[in-house]
Amino acid sequence: MNGIVLISGNGSNLQSIIDHSTAIDLDIKAVISNHSSAYGLKRAEHANIPTHTLSHKQFSSREKFDQALSNIINQYNPEIIILAGFMRILSAKFTHQYSGKMLNIHPSLLPKFPGLNTHQRVIESKERQHGVSIHFVTEQLDRGPIIAQASVDICDTDTTESLTERVLLEEHKLFPKVIHWFTQGRLKLKGNHAMLDGKVL
Ligand code: GAR
Repeated sequence: MNGIVLISGNGSNLQSIIDHSTAIDLDIKAVISNHSSAYGLKRAEHANIPTHTLSHKQFSSREKFDQALSNIINQYNPEIIILAGFMRILSAKFTHQYSGKMLNIHPSLLPKFPGLNTHQRVIESKERQHGVSIHFVTEQLDRGPIIAQASVDICDTDTTESLTERVLLEEHKLFPKVIHWFTQGRLKLKGNHAMLDGKVL
């Protein structure tokens, strides 16, 4: 299945997706970043995947940036759009355009801790559990139907760094698995529900 991956930074999830791409039947047609310095662009280049940089700073509005972004995406006619650490809020129009085929990974057990700095906020809130969620993207930030989650226990000695590292290990396992469900045609968005093999998740 043809896909596009959007990133903003290190791209460790992108790397995991690249490493699993043959096994999960994903052909990554391009990687797009909103930061030219994103290390993930180098990872894509090493894997011979075309890259694009589109700086949001060059646009006067979110809508104009999103329009330029979708112009690049649509050149590839992708069947799946993967947000792998893409740190931009997307306009409603953009999310509607790709409804049912855009997946996001978020580093918390949604609906807890949407937004930024999740690891830090989890530690400050004295939670005992943390983790990762993968969801369909809808116009509400971090609120689309949840597809899968993986949790980690929080230790008293945990720091933002140690927790980031442990959650990322789970992210790298979970995202390829969920993408594979999608490329197999097993995962769908119906109304406001994520469905796997015809059953609501
Ligand atoms: C990951 O932890 C991902 O869950 C998070 O950004 C990180 C990207 O790491 N995504 C979000 O916070 C989305 N709101 P990576 O660039 O190494 O894959």
